[in-house]
Amino acid sequence: MSNEHESIRWGIIGPGGIAHQFSQALAQTQGGELYAVASRNKARAEDFAQQYAAEISYGNYQEIVSDPSVDVIYIATPHSHHFQHAKACLDAGKHVLMEKPLTVTAQQTQTLVALSKEKGCVFQEALWSRYMPCFAKVKTWIDSGEIGELQYITSQIGFAFSHLRNHRLTLPELAGGAILDLGVYSTSISQYLIGSHPTKVQAMGMINKDGVDQNTLVNLRHPGNIHSQFTCTIGAQCSNAMTIHGKKGYILLPHCFWNGNSASLYKDERCVATENFPHPINGFEYQIASTMESIVDGRLCDPRMSHEDSIGVMKTLDEIRQQIGLAFPDNIESCD
Ligand SMILES: NC(=O)c1ccc[n+]([C@@H]2O[C@H](COP(=O)([O-])OP(=O)(O)OC[C@H]3O[C@@H](n4cnc5c(N)ncnc54)[C@H](OP(=O)(O)O)[C@@H]3O)[C@@H](O)[C@H]2O)c1
Repeated sequence: MSNEHESIRWGIIGPGGIAHQFSQALAQTQGGELYAVASRNKARAEDFAQQYAAEISYGNYQEIVSDPSVDVIYIATPHSHHFQHAKACLDAGKHVLMEKPLTVTAQQTQTLVALSKEKGCVFQEALWSRYMPCFAKVKTWIDSGEIGELQYITSQIGFAFSHLRNHRLTLPELAGGAILDLGVYSTSISQYLIGSHPTKVQAMGMINKDGVDQNTLVNLRHPGNIHSQFTCTIGAQCSNAMTIHGKKGYILLPHCFWNGNSASLYKDERCVATENFPHPINGFEYQIASTMESIVDGRLCDPRMSHEDSIGVMKTLDEIRQQIGLAFPDNIESCD
């Protein structure tokens, strides 16, 4: 830690929409403080820094990376820029918590994981659900046989975002579309609950006139003949539920399953337990606390969202993109 009172000093790159939720949670989390904010626009950085009482603001991303007082950087830029921003941070010896999906390709994730090992810097994926108590509970129900032998997981994720124009979700040059922004939740959470990566991928998708996937439908086969299946969309309203089916019952994660608010256990057709998980702050506190634990404990990531898992998820997403014909400009897929 770089300051005398041993608090971990955070920086933010990309003070956009989600960075507000992060900052609200950090402000109420013990052991860390928002120290610096970096935007491509100095006035935007200053406004954000003022709002969350950060000490310093930068009008570019280079200066925050070279600030010796910054311990760890939360990267909240569009997917297209994750690789280059994380590489700059790790190269400079900064710990990193980076928004999902970790990168655009599996190869980019592998390159960053290798760099994190070389530099001894924490590198964590901010797939916030995986750090939540709700998913730990659901995994316990599955692993202890509450629903019998696991058969398959189904989920839907998406919203009717048809009004969006020139938004990162609609732009191939910012790696927009449903699969990377939303399908990553179904892919990652199913992988976590099943405990293995898929060995077979079948995907169909609709690429819209903007050149990003609007609707994508995916079937995955995992070892042990367990399946997972999901649809993701940026063009339709979904139930946004996940159901985990076993031979004796099922678990239902209702609306916005990735928020980890509640889970119900059904045996046969009867609900036998419902557990609610109100977040102490807004749900971001778990991944913030986990990243700080990693820093203090000297581990490179949290086992609940391991590097191997991030790479595996990216490999699945690569295959889905290849099958649905979703290509992005070469420069955002490269490892340079
Ligand atoms: N965990 C969650 O629940 C959740 C929810 C939403 C999004 N996310 C993830 O968070 C990340 C950011 O999403 P967001 O919705 O916050 O995005 P956003 O509002 O569009 O903000 C992204 C920020 O990135 C910066 N940026 C850098 N290069 C850019 C470029 N070429 N074009 C546009 N912006 C650029 C911008 O900040 P400056 O110009 O000020 O530097 C912008 O404010 C994504 O990875 C997304 O998947 C996570």
